[in-house]
Amino acid sequence: MVKHNANTESELVSWHESYSVGVKIIDDQHKELINLVNDLFNHVVGNEEAEREYFQKVIHEAVNYVKVHFATEERIMLATKFKGYDAHKKEHDSFVMNVIKNAKDYEAGKRLTLTSFTKFLKDWVLTHIAVMDKLYFDYFKKIASRKQDGKLSITSADVK
Ligand SMILES: [Fe+2]
Ligand SMILES: [Fe+2]
Repeated sequence: MVKHNANTESELVSWHESYSVGVKIIDDQHKELINLVNDLFNHVVGNEEAEREYFQKVIHEAVNYVKVHFATEERIMLATKFKGYDAHKKEHDSFVMNVIKNAKDYEAGKRLTLTSFTKFLKDWVLTHIAVMDKLYFDYFKKIASRKQDGKLSITSADVK
């Protein structure tokens, strides 16, 4: 049983339909990312040593998960010839670099705490979904609207 910390409990995120980008695999991955953020917040126990130990255990897995998610999005964007691909990929890449840098700083005992690291992660993930990921969703909807059935299940025949 994880002890909840009153300072971070209010930071927990619940999935909301407004986060949906209309593609099930992506929504599922975003849900996983939100779980990850919540899990990190739930491990803010006020004991620096315990927090650091936990962080070292999960951070590599977390970074790998983020990379898998980005690769999935990038594959779909390329396959559908989404024009915003370059700008989007740039954001993904700089985020991964940033997370790795912050994780190293945290592990080295610099500035960051588990709370501030997790807040940074949460803010980035939620903003990125709301702004950048919604852009390709709008694009998919536009493609779908050209189809007879109007469905989001897009095949290569729908991409021009
Ligand atoms: Fe995403
Ligand atoms: Fe993205």
